[in-house]
Amino acid sequence: DGVYADATNGALPHLPYDHDELRDRAREILDPGPFGYVEGSAGRERTADANVEAFSRYALRPRGLRPGAENAGDTGVTLFGERYPSPLLTAPVGVLEQVHPESERALARGANALGVPVVLSTAASTSMEEVAEVADSWWYQLYWPGDDELAESFVRRATAAGARAIVVTTDTSRLGWRPRDLSQGHLPFLRGQGTANYYGDPVFRSRLKEEPEPGGVLTEAVLHFLGSFSNRALSTDNIARIREWTDLPVLVKGVVRADEAEELVDAGIDGIVVSNHGGRQVDAAVAALDALPEVVEAVGDRAEVLFDSGVRSGADVVVAMALGAKAVLVGRPWVYGLAVDGAAGVEHVLRSILAEVQITAELMGRDVADLSADDVRRRP
Ligand code: FNR
Repeated sequence: DGVYADATNGALPHLPYDHDELRDRAREILDPGPFGYVEGSAGRERTADANVEAFSRYALRPRGLRPGAENAGDTGVTLFGERYPSPLLTAPVGVLEQVHPESERALARGANALGVPVVLSTAASTSMEEVAEVADSWWYQLYWPGDDELAESFVRRATAAGARAIVVTTDTSRLGWRPRDLSQGHLPFLRGQGTANYYGDPVFRSRLKEEPEPGGVLTEAVLHFLGSFSNRALSTDNIARIREWTDLPVLVKGVVRADEAEELVDAGIDGIVVSNHGGRQVDAAVAALDALPEVVEAVGDRAEVLFDSGVRSGADVVVAMALGAKAVLVGRPWVYGLAVDGAAGVEHVLRSILAEVQITAELMGRDVADLSADDVRRRP
């Protein structure tokens, strides 16, 4: 009840509830470069569009008669043996300094208000140790660097700082072809943005002759950051090595194929995030929601399957969970909340989505953790 009452206490909302309206507000506030960076996707942006459209092809099946369901609508989920108050997490989003000066600090305060864990990007604007001081609950997302010792350092630092899981993103061996950024010359990484986790890292620093200076353009540190950004030939052998560095659950994010999911599960991975990076990597790639059922089927109960890409509302979260996702990462919606109103904007977005999740699940006669394939059909 709480979340809905707070979202609708009679006062007019200070921000729109609708994603597209909030995006338009952010467009007014942000410079064209940063706005294009957030909103833009790969190529002609067909996959980004398809991610959202895919939700229109699924229909929920609410149930009015459900004896014993008077308490339905519980939003709690259990992931890797830990209880979370809702199925939402904030998706890892790098270079937030372009969006709001308080970047991850504001994100964490907004997410804390709802008990939503933050998945912190490797390319964050705030170091993981600083985020750990603000965020009540956070996971660490790893872009696997070309330098394995740097990967080890990142994972050990995240573990020591209190991350609850490690999420290895495998769909970004390099950045996709993103015309909006290219045509505006907006390439934040060349300006050394998103480097807080690198510049403070002892292994990263040991590779440099000069002290890294935040804000420097094409300095030695920026060039080293760009050169060591990714391992272009990542395999399950690399990923299995994380076990030597941490006891935390390990997930892989960016999977849209059953065969790859099976390979990962055979290699002992704990979780998979079905995602196409919000359509930012491969244009014409399969919509993430369309890939979800095959991955869920391939994985069975051997690992947890999470989902992102295209989620814009609470009903979308319920559809993804009915199709087998155990939890859902929200991307662009909270980024626009952050742009428009900092921590309060993030809180507004998460609270609205969560209120709709709760109401929808209740009207379905389900707790979110009990949603299943029986609750959804493809539209004829
Ligand atoms: C991202 N995403 C991303 N993913 C990741 O693993 N590490 C990262 O640093 C980033 N950075 C990033 C920046 C921006 C501006 C966006 C929009 C996205 C992808 C993100 O985690 C998630 O997969 C998508 O945002 C989901 O798609 P939607 O819901 O935003 O369409």
